Amino acid sequence: TSSKIVVIGSCSVDFTAYAPRLAKPGETLHGYKFITSYGGKGANQCVAAAKLGGNAYMICRVGDDQWGQQYKQYLKELGVDVSHTNITPNVTTGIAQISVADNGENQIIIVPGANNNLSTSDIEQSKEVIKQADVLIGQLETPFLTTLEAFKLNNGIKILNAAPARTGIEEIFPFCTILCVNETEASILTDLEVNVTNAAIALKKLVDIGCESVVITLGQQGAVYLSKRDQQPIHVPCKNVKPVDTTGAGDAFVGALATFLVTHKDYPMHQIIGAACEVATISVTKIGTQTSYPTNFKAFTKEYEYQKI
Ligand code: RIB
Ligand code: NA
Repeated sequence: TSSKIVVIGSCSVDFTAYAPRLAKPGETLHGYKFITSYGGKGANQCVAAAKLGGNAYMICRVGDDQWGQQYKQYLKELGVDVSHTNITPNVTTGIAQISVADNGENQIIIVPGANNNLSTSDIEQSKEVIKQADVLIGQLETPFLTTLEAFKLNNGIKILNAAPARTGIEEIFPFCTILCVNETEASILTDLEVNVTNAAIALKKLVDIGCESVVITLGQQGAVYLSKRDQQPIHVPCKNVKPVDTTGAGDAFVGALATFLVTHKDYPMHQIIGAACEVATISVTKIGTQTSYPTNFKAFTKEYEYQKI
């Protein structure tokens, strides 16, 4: 049987309006397009993994409204194991209201709904699959203590995507194999304004707080990485493209990272990060979130460049 990638986290429906630019507070803008699509950081990461050929499992909660059942069915059709995708009565499925500007920037308001009901009793119920996971992925759109509990049970690779940004999560760091954050999330966790020039300092700070290794994604500039073991921060740049829709690009990265860690486990980390960056880059050139994630991706056909920083 192939390695298990288990995602514990959010599953939400995205309502996305496309407009020339983002609205200012109090302003009304005319958009030109509207789509309803499957989203939520957890499910996005799970679908990214499944589309890349990963053996993906989704532990989450949806509501008993029109979206919950539909979402579960759709995940199943993508080949995701949904035996731990649970429906909670009398709550709404999580939703995200998203605006996307022509320059690819976005703004998101989430209403967690059923995502808030993912509890430690779900962890108890899904204990076996959590323990067996070769890679376990969590985010911060579902209750933190639930994720913490799951991470404590697993001895494999645990990836925490600490998104959306928040503080007060240090308790989980000793259980994280890889902490994966973007510049905003890294800034909030380190009290630094993180960018490509000071990323090595931020990495060091996060490793010192207790993570085994840290990836900071830098959008167009790729990603940086540091592991406690080798103590050498590296920068893996990525190809520059004209962004069409950056929504969920970070999730594409996380899902790809998890997948390549099992499908290409003997490859050096800069290769795995380079390939994950490539997947995220492909996703920003296409409209939508999960719909923009590649299938038939030919990874590792080249050597990704990187620098020590
Ligand atoms: O990371 C992108 C996701 O964040 C969207 O799909 C939306 O659901 C929000 O939660
Ligand atoms: Na996209």
